[in-house]
Parts: sequence; C-alpha cells; structure tokens
Amino acid sequence: MLPDQRLVGIRGFLIDAPSRDRLRGIRDGALLIEEGCITAYGSYESIRVAQAGRDIRWLHSPEAVLIPGLIDVHAHLPQYPAVARHSEALLPWLQQHIFPLEKQFKAATSRVQSRAFFEDLARHGTTCAMLYAAVFADSADAAFSAAEESGLRLIIGKVMMDVGSYGSLPAEKTSDRSCAESESLCRKWNGRDGGRLEYAFSPRFAVSCSGELMRRAGELAQKHGAYLQTHLSENTDEVALVKTLFPDRASYTDIYAHYGLLGPRTVLGHCLHLSDAEMAQMAEARAVVAHCPTSNFFLTSGLMPMDRLCRAGLRIGLGSDVAGGPELNMWQVMRSAIETQKARHYHDASVPVVGAVEAFHLATLGGADALGKSRTIGSFEIGKEADVVVLDLASITPYGRKLNPHAQLTAEDVISLLVYRGGPAAVVETFVRGRSVYRAPAPGLI
Ligand code: GUN
Ligand code: ZN
Repeated sequence: MLPDQRLVGIRGFLIDAPSRDRLRGIRDGALLIEEGCITAYGSYESIRVAQAGRDIRWLHSPEAVLIPGLIDVHAHLPQYPAVARHSEALLPWLQQHIFPLEKQFKAATSRVQSRAFFEDLARHGTTCAMLYAAVFADSADAAFSAAEESGLRLIIGKVMMDVGSYGSLPAEKTSDRSCAESESLCRKWNGRDGGRLEYAFSPRFAVSCSGELMRRAGELAQKHGAYLQTHLSENTDEVALVKTLFPDRASYTDIYAHYGLLGPRTVLGHCLHLSDAEMAQMAEARAVVAHCPTSNFFLTSGLMPMDRLCRAGLRIGLGSDVAGGPELNMWQVMRSAIETQKARHYHDASVPVVGAVEAFHLATLGGADALGKSRTIGSFEIGKEADVVVLDLASITPYGRKLNPHAQLTAEDVISLLVYRGGPAAVVETFVRGRSVYRAPAPGLI
C-alpha cells in the first residue's frame, strides 16, 4: 500500500500506445500522482526539476517498465476453476463443465472465490475487467462486495437466463425475478466509489433467454444508463440453433437489435461468424466487440475477422473469456489475437497481420475506448486516473538480470517481449487510481 501521502512519483520506462500503430516510450520517465490522477508525465529529470521543493515519495526505478493497466472486457468469474476442461465445442462444453460449476456459485462460494479472482487479476496486471457472475443475486452481491474491497475497476452483472436456467425457479417466474434482482443489484452497485464499480445487465445469449427477458434487460440497461453484455455468434452450431429459436429474425444480430439490446454500452462477446449486414447493424448502434481469441482457439470456435470488424467501424476490446480462455493473462490474449490474424493471413494474403503494438493498444487504450472510458484510463495523460502496472523485464528475458540484455531495448522490443513472454512473473506492482492493489511478494531489484 502507498503511504498516506498526497504526492507520489513512479519511475520507470514509460510505455503506452496512444494509437493502434504507435507506441510512446520515455526511458527513465516518471508519473506524478495526486489524489489518484496523473498530474505530471515526462522524463524523471524534467519532473524532478519542475517539482523541486515538493515532497515527492518516489517509487521504483529506471529499471522498471511502466504501462497503463490492462483491460479485460470479457470473463466469467464463477468459471475460473474450470479452465482447460476440454469439450468438442461451445454448447457441449457449457453443458458438461460450465453450467454444473456455475450452479454451485452460491453466495458462500462467491465470497471466497471472488476475492481470490480479483487478487489474481491484479497479479496479472489487469486493472479493469468486465465480468459475468452466476444467476444467483446474493452471489453477485458478494462478488461486488469483494470487488469493492479489491480496489480494482470492475463491471459485473448477474447472469440472466430464463430458458434452461440452472437456477431452481419455475421457468415462468424466472424472467420476473431475474429482472427484479438485476435491477436491485444495479441500483445498489452501479457507480459505486466514484464509478470504480459498475453494473452490466447480462442476458447470457439468445439460446438461454426468451425474447421477453432480452427486451426487459435492454430496457433496464437504458433506464439506468448501465452496460449490457451478452454473447453473439461464437460458434456455428450455436448460430444454427439460434436461427431455429427465432425464425422470424433476419440474423443473430437482428434478434438483439429487435429486442433493444444494441447500444454504445453493449459489449458483445466473440462475434466470429457475422455477415457484413450484421456488422453494419452493430456499428449503427455503436455496439462493441469483445474479442476473445484464446477462448476461440480453445473451444475451436473460429478465427475472428478483425479486418472486417474494423472496416465496419466497430470498437474492439480484448477478453480472456475465462474459462473459455484458459488464462487471465492478457499477454496471452494479445498473442492469440496476433496469431489469429496470422493464421488468416496464411490462407489469404490480403488479410492484414496484426502486430504487438496493435495488440497492446487493444488491451489498453482500445479496451478503454470500447468501454467508453478512454478519457479516464488506457494511456498516460495528465488528468487521467493512474491505473499503472510496474513490470520487471529481467523476469522474462532469457538470461534475466545476469546479462542485463534489456538495457538497450526499444519500446517496441519491450512490448513484443511482453506479448510473447509476459505474465504474472513480470508484474512487480499494480496500481488503480494511484492505490497499490498488488505487490509481488519478493520484488526484484526494482
Ligand atoms: N455463450 C453463452 N455462455 C457462454 C459462456 O459462459 N462462455 C462462452 N465462451 N460462451 C458462452
Ligand atoms: Zn463468455
């Protein structure tokens, strides 16, 4: 934890990605943090001189790398214990592994697991995440309490499903109760702690929601100005099933449009098998894509057509989709996002390859923009809130500190190393709003 002192400076090699194709790096740079916000950004020397006479408590050293906190726009809190459980595809995986586990995610379990989950997010350098809880309201409430304690920036929603729900309610009552409970959670938690905690209405997907439930979820999200999250077009069997469930609608996306789910605060997981018309429909509503490439590989769901989604003008963030994705590690997710486009490029040379800089942008400022938070977080700007990860590169370079091989690395080299070798081993300390939310137990020299 930071000492109770107003003025804190963090030193290190500052690296952020103000645009998709550009990194900004300041070697021996520094951030000055006052009341949770960045009040100076630049070289350590220039800040030291400009702030002469002020009592700054300096943390870390020029050896450290500082990046904006990583943003995970799609993961499932109750599912973490089920990572890496194989099944042939999404729908059998949900039945065999996921629903039985979520059914057990009652309040007592949530109290214990949510705290551990948030600690693990911070240990991975993730400072902001958008999460699904389970269907149980008290369990989602317990998750929010743990979120409040964690210090992280979290958006959470109780899962809504009234078709084949794993809850114990009679089906015809589930929709009423689901809406009432979701609204009450939203009233209690949305905007808590100056907006650090927010609510997301979370109709699971069109397979497990009636039209009535979706319509009401959309209305509630609108009424409260809250987020809405769901899954869209992840797997071809799912798409075919949805077509039989809503035969009057033009497409999967059209179902969500029809029931009022699409808007600028709607985050749609996966979006792999969309037509151009569906992408245009989403773009028109300014809805957002949660790209979950580790999950798409693990569940053999498909290769996301990133170039087409970008051309349609859609905002995209990256999601671990734990437990569809096997890790909370956003560097792994970035790497898979790159490898997805490389795999597509191999078969069609006109598909652009995505590089480490773009992947890093997606996991920071791009994710912030996807969540409508690019004025608050995602990059190092004066006035932004200080969500910062301090990294130790020696922990992930081949010869570690022994040969000090990273002294001359460029910002591009550093980000590429992190994308291909990064993880919790590299995280020394994680800050949200300038408050330390994780510190490695045996920090290295920095
Ligand atoms: N579609 C509906 N529910 C889920 C879920 O829990 N995980 C994934 N990956 N897809 C879903
Ligand atoms: Zn998901």
